[in-house]
Amino acid sequence: MSDLRLLGLSGSLRRESNNTALLRTLQDSMPADIELSVKTLHGIPLYDQDLENRGTPRAVVELRVEIAASDGLVICSPEYNCGMPGVLKNALDWASRPASASPMKGKPVLIVTSSPAFTGGVRAQAHLREVLTGMLARVIVWPQVVIAGVHGKVQNGRVADETTVQFLHEAVGGLAAEISLLRRSLA
Ligand SMILES: Cc1cc2nc3c(=O)[nH]c(=O)nc-3n(C[C@H](O)[C@H](O)[C@H](O)COP(=O)(O)O)c2cc1C
Repeated sequence: MSDLRLLGLSGSLRRESNNTALLRTLQDSMPADIELSVKTLHGIPLYDQDLENRGTPRAVVELRVEIAASDGLVICSPEYNCGMPGVLKNALDWASRPASASPMKGKPVLIVTSSPAFTGGVRAQAHLREVLTGMLARVIVWPQVVIAGVHGKVQNGRVADETTVQFLHEAVGGLAAEISLLRRSLA
């Protein structure tokens, strides 16, 4: 069994998503002591408190269970209109409930944004940071991973640019270090 169980969430539902490709590349190349599962957000209904009061939808229960079972999250997201995509915000809204005891509370999270633009989704990065902090997640402050020109770095569903792969690995290393620190402080 791996020492560290990470859950990767993609902010894009697109079949050929570059952001999902970033996660798949990481998943394929994790060291033996780290397991990374990749999840897309298909099937998560729109947040509706009436729906929640009637009983949490199965896809949301699964999302919450997977988040709770993980030691940390890697969120890879595009930027839509200067923020995170609604699909991702919606899933995070579901995951942030119940507010005082949600699976997001205290969860270490690494944010990765990417875009074909040279700005690399930097505004979605800031948006995610604010929203995740609002639900009391432990956002990794360094490094902030912003990948510009991502369409030129992905081929056949995987990252083909070695510098980008190395950058992603360093970032996951930062997340792993934060989780170790947290474990030591709780021991
Ligand atoms: C509705 C919409 C809004 C977008 N807004 C932005 C934006 O504000 N900044 C940006 O860099 N790219 C923007 N894009 C382009 C996305 O970064 C691009 O489609 C990206 O490849 C999507 O990520 P994916 O490959 O993981 O699906 C937008 C795309 C869509 C569909």
